[in-house]
Amino acid sequence: YTQSLCAWAGEFVASCHDKETGASMFICVHSTARGPAAGGLRIKAYDAPLSAMEDGLRLSSAMTLKMAICDAPLGGGKSVIFVDPAVLAAQRPKILARFAMLLESLHGTYYGAPDMNTGPDDMDFIYERSRYVFCRTAERGGSGSTTHHTALGTFHAILASAEFALGRRDLTGRSIVVQGVGGVGGALVEMLVRAGARVTVSDVDASRVASLVSRFGVATVAPDDAVTTACDILAPCATGGILNARTIPELRCAAIAGAANNQLETPEDDARLQERGILYAPDFVASAGGVLHGVGFELWKWSEAQVDQAVERLGGILLDVFAAAKADKTGTREAAERLARSKLLK
Ligand code: PHE
Repeated sequence: YTQSLCAWAGEFVASCHDKETGASMFICVHSTARGPAAGGLRIKAYDAPLSAMEDGLRLSSAMTLKMAICDAPLGGGKSVIFVDPAVLAAQRPKILARFAMLLESLHGTYYGAPDMNTGPDDMDFIYERSRYVFCRTAERGGSGSTTHHTALGTFHAILASAEFALGRRDLTGRSIVVQGVGGVGGALVEMLVRAGARVTVSDVDASRVASLVSRFGVATVAPDDAVTTACDILAPCATGGILNARTIPELRCAAIAGAANNQLETPEDDARLQERGILYAPDFVASAGGVLHGVGFELWKWSEAQVDQAVERLGGILLDVFAAAKADKTGTREAAERLARSKLLK
């Protein structure tokens, strides 16, 4: 942890431990260069409190890049809660109230938003105690769930990847593996099926897979085999770190475009993909639709059509990134990061 904390070039971490529930929470503020930090609140069954913090650190850096790519007047941050799942189920309000207290103590330096295992209802609850959140429910004046627009952004990332790697945008007959079919992955599957793609899904939760099979007749693959299944495009929509020194040599796809955060385990994996000639749509661009939803509706007061257009532009940004990476002979992640960093300097 010392190593990941020292490698993290962020501003600060605010943390607290709730004795009664055993929950540990961390708000990681990576950058306020463009404005107050913002990013999702993730609750997960981490193996230890410091693993949660480590995840928050990495995710907060990615948020800085995501906000810059979206031209949002916000910096990057992320918050994580380590808690036993049974305790969470029994004491969710208590834990969220403690989180709200920590959030309020930052007086707006960080804004929370939904993420893994948190949603608009949780934002409503937190808002009653601290107003620094995005994506409350529509009934409470918020923009609601980001799921649809996150999936839509990933769909445009897939179209751009098909255009660049396969020569045409048309997805008819293209084989696409969607790894992880929770909210975002599930919505993406529906878009891909409607576009005529041949979709294969996988998830550790068999009931999610079964529901997509019955609704759309998609094919399935075991979670352990998803990443290495032969296909045109792989769409990672589960957790991070799945592209690494072990999996990259085994990949059998032409391109990767998915909504999961932190898909590359290490920075070197960018070059590994480049060497293998696999086109990689950097995750902080491919998953930026959720930010455009929250920021577009709530800060910029955009209409649905304007949000849709901004999300569609993520595809154009990716085509520019792919072209820059090709011209400079770098990995695509490096090219995207350079573009994002140029927006941090202003
Ligand atoms: N959870 C979102 C993400 O990872 C973060 C977010 C959504 C931030 C909406 C602000 C507004 O991209």
